[in-house]
Amino acid sequence: MDDISFTILPETPDDALAIERLHERMFGPGRYAKTAYRLREQVRHGLDLSFTARIGTLLVGSVRLSPVRIGETKALLLGPLTVEPAFRERGVGHALIERALQAARAEGHRLVILVGDEPFYGKCGFKRIPPGRASMPGPVDPARLLVAELADGAFDGVSGPVRPD
Ligand SMILES: CC(C)(COP(=O)(O)OP(=O)(O)OC[C@H]1O[C@@H](n2cnc3c(N)ncnc32)[C@H](O)[C@@H]1OP(=O)(O)O)[C@@H](O)C(=O)NCCC(=O)NCCS
Repeated sequence: MDDISFTILPETPDDALAIERLHERMFGPGRYAKTAYRLREQVRHGLDLSFTARIGTLLVGSVRLSPVRIGETKALLLGPLTVEPAFRERGVGHALIERALQAARAEGHRLVILVGDEPFYGKCGFKRIPPGRASMPGPVDPARLLVAELADGAFDGVSGPVRPD
């Protein structure tokens, strides 16, 4: 695996177009039908909790966090996470997640959820949500609904529908 030097920076309003194009290339128009996308459409991601990966001035990756609630409990929804195909398998994806989780923890957030592959996100502390604990506003494979606790026991006793905050 080649070493590449990349930087992780907070997202700025000027990044919106490049990120939208990245999402279009990665996920295509079908992304609008996904449950996580439908949820995100109703909330604004926090720029202070969203990050880009750059090599020089080139944007090669992006991750966003958006405020939601699980039942009455505040949480963040992670995604989309995208890395340009040419720059994958070099740690950019995990670095984006780690940076976003670090920023969320620093702001006092306690829970982050997402819909994604457990083998990938498990390396960053995400675990499968037990069946029935959290319901998304649309179809989701329960094996892909994951949570990371940013504080010990943060998911204890939390349950309910996931909705925009
Ligand atoms: C998923 C994605 C963000 C990973 O980015 P990346 O920069 O390659 O990630 P990293 O280099 O940090 O990690 C790569 C590691 O994760 C593994 N990995 C990547 N995607 C995986 C998946 N879907 N399931 C399991 N493992 C996965 C790689 O095999 C590699 O493993 P290794 O460290 O043992 O070699 C990137 O492949 C991507 O943009 N995919 C398309 C969009 C997508 O699926 N996003 C996630 C859902 S929102």
